[in-house]
Amino acid sequence: MTFPARRLRRLRQTPALRRMVAETRLSVDDVVAPLFVREGIASPQPIASLPGVVQHTRESLRKEVRELAELGVPAVILFGVPEHKDPRGSEAWNPDGIVQVALRDLRDEVGDRMALMADLCLDEYTSHGHCGVLDRQGQPDNDATIALYGHIAVAQAAAGADVVAPSGMMDGQVGAIRAALDEAEHSRVAVLAYAAKYASALYGPFRDAVDVTIVGGGDRKGYQQDPRNFREALAEVAADIEEGADMVMVKPALAYLDVIAAVAASVDMPVAAYHVSGEYAMVKAAAERGWIDGQAAAMEHLTAIKRAGADIILTYFARELAELLHG
Ligand code: PBG
Repeated sequence: MTFPARRLRRLRQTPALRRMVAETRLSVDDVVAPLFVREGIASPQPIASLPGVVQHTRESLRKEVRELAELGVPAVILFGVPEHKDPRGSEAWNPDGIVQVALRDLRDEVGDRMALMADLCLDEYTSHGHCGVLDRQGQPDNDATIALYGHIAVAQAAAGADVVAPSGMMDGQVGAIRAALDEAEHSRVAVLAYAAKYASALYGPFRDAVDVTIVGGGDRKGYQQDPRNFREALAEVAADIEEGADMVMVKPALAYLDVIAAVAASVDMPVAAYHVSGEYAMVKAAAERGWIDGQAAAMEHLTAIKRAGADIILTYFARELAELLHG
């Protein structure tokens, strides 16, 4: 017998063989498109650090979402950029706030063909850029903040959201939101918890996208997770499930594939992962310089996230992926 008896290269010889044995298959059904809608602008505004992504007007958002629906993308998640910010972020729960009017527009546009999700946080709406109302130390006051999250959840649900997605990393936020939704007779609305969300350097372009600067050059390390910690992520996930989450998310994605894999192995609900703005921007920037093949790198990123165990991937590549798979 020659050695080695098993030659692993046999099944890699042709595209058809490789396709037949592929363990991970990326589909348009796996992705959710994050979209930005800005109040008070007359035309879509490009975001320099997120090439190909824009701040939408209500009209351009409608068109984008109709096209995504036609391409088969199952869901979008909305982020709002209000014209007026204040210390409490009150536009976030205004029934006529930008995300609420956009949700109504989109329900009218696509009906039930697409799941409509809304990011639920205060940072886009507060004048200081933190994810909650501040205490005397200048940090979000946990319990005052989650009460406001309840108001936002109800406003988003009343405007037609199928899913609300709290991203502020306050303790008890999922329970407070679930209680507020049920109390207001929105028990049909699901909660996608940003459960394990790290204080990451990869959110930079997103903050350009939503015009957020944290006051005094501050950061979110007082509430988002420390990238050095793993067990804490499992504790966050367990707490959110206990409080009533319907789906849990890990964010960012590529630097946390270990966390995605562990969460996927330990929960009995859908697991989402957010391929965040910085992950997208790095691919785009290197591709623009001709240093990497952007499309191939994007596919590799998304495939790896799925291989690690994510069922749902929030990605700025959603449209490109859908176009490619339809191609
Ligand atoms: C908070 C929120 C952030 C992102 C999603 N929700 C920013 C932050 O926590 O600072 C980042 C998403 C991305 O970088 O693509 N509302």
